[in-house]
Amino acid sequence: MGFNFKTIDTEIANSLPKGLRSNEALHDPFEWYHNKRNTAPVQYDPSRGVYDVFSYELVKKSLQDGENLVRPELTQEEIDDPLSYFDAGMVWSNGSDHKQVKGEMFQYFTPRILNGIEESILSITKAQLDTAMSDTNEFDFVEDFAVPIPLRVIMDFIGIPQADHERLLQWLETFRSVMTSEDSDEMSLTEGHMTGAAQYFENIVAERRANPQNDLISQLVTETTLTPKQIGSNCFDFALAGQGTMSELLTNALYILDQQSSISEFEDHDLSVLLEEVLRYRSPLQARARRAASQIKLGKSTIPVDSTVILWIGAANRDPDQFTDPDSFNPHRDPNHLAFGSGSHNCIGAPIARLEAPIILQTLFDRLARLDIDYERVVPKPKASKLGFDRMPVQIVEK
Ligand code: HEM
Repeated sequence: MGFNFKTIDTEIANSLPKGLRSNEALHDPFEWYHNKRNTAPVQYDPSRGVYDVFSYELVKKSLQDGENLVRPELTQEEIDDPLSYFDAGMVWSNGSDHKQVKGEMFQYFTPRILNGIEESILSITKAQLDTAMSDTNEFDFVEDFAVPIPLRVIMDFIGIPQADHERLLQWLETFRSVMTSEDSDEMSLTEGHMTGAAQYFENIVAERRANPQNDLISQLVTETTLTPKQIGSNCFDFALAGQGTMSELLTNALYILDQQSSISEFEDHDLSVLLEEVLRYRSPLQARARRAASQIKLGKSTIPVDSTVILWIGAANRDPDQFTDPDSFNPHRDPNHLAFGSGSHNCIGAPIARLEAPIILQTLFDRLARLDIDYERVVPKPKASKLGFDRMPVQIVEK
């Protein structure tokens, strides 16, 4: 298939496992996963200085061992710079701090509370489709659909005014483009990158405290014991963790359905169940990092204290010991996948994703008689820790 692969930056390529240093392998890493898992489910990679874990059993066990395998801290110590503002995010914290924040946040992410955002997801999707299809029968499924809709949904939920969405997206992209820590031992983000974002969240939390509105920031400020920094940094994380993954889920879903020639037949399936298989088959987050807080035994390997451990969720989700015929896409499988993680750091936004994705795709399919992907111009994402697409031009015919 003639994809338009982006060139991988040499520095980034060197931070990747040797078997994934080509665009083709990054787009389709599953053979590499199988080879690695068959050799040994836990392996040390001297070129990246990390331990890689590939089997479902050990990836799940590691995700659930929050005591010995902790999230790497964002900054190394408590220093007074703008980047350390984001340390308080759940994604980067561990132990009792993490437990307290997640405990207080949890109540705002239950399906019952979230039912209220269904209407807004629907109207955001319809409005964005109108924009994407105005005067044209072609648009970029990523830039014109899969990125802006989840961005707007999560920003509205948090309470970021629409005029600031574009600015937020820039910060999210900067943060992601300089973070390599999810697939290597490196941490390349510096304080300068995030000065504006820290200031922005400090200001908006203070502003909502003075003048509460009908949004998550205001609820957290008025109803919880969380500090302004805990609220601001976690709201940044909600945007960070929620926006890209959702875009990847939607784009992977379209790609898989097209590959299975089933876009027109999707109505035969329960879309929610089908999307669970998309999450297993091409998981948006393929790898997550941990640091060994003590020496541990994982399978037959002994992992020294302070080692970086990379948990390959994407490999676990294709493990034949867990899933029959794992490389087949089975829309009825309803798999017990690890795409939302497991254990203490599991995805707090999973109920939003599970509510949002079927509404968005159903709204799209209801509107279209036909959709063709222009594969020559499709650009897969050149990353190991994320699986998705940077560009996917489509031609459409409306019903
Ligand atoms: C298809 C969409 C999504 C996927 C595949 C996904 C995946 C994941 C995974 C694998 C983790 C665990 C990370 C780890 O253990 O290191 C996680 C955590 C997290 N996700 Fe999601 N996520 C999605 C959507 C969302 C949304 C919509 C939000 C919005 C609130 C969100 C917010 C978070 C946060 C804050 C965490 C960190 C939780 C913690 O550290 O305790 N995610 N997500």
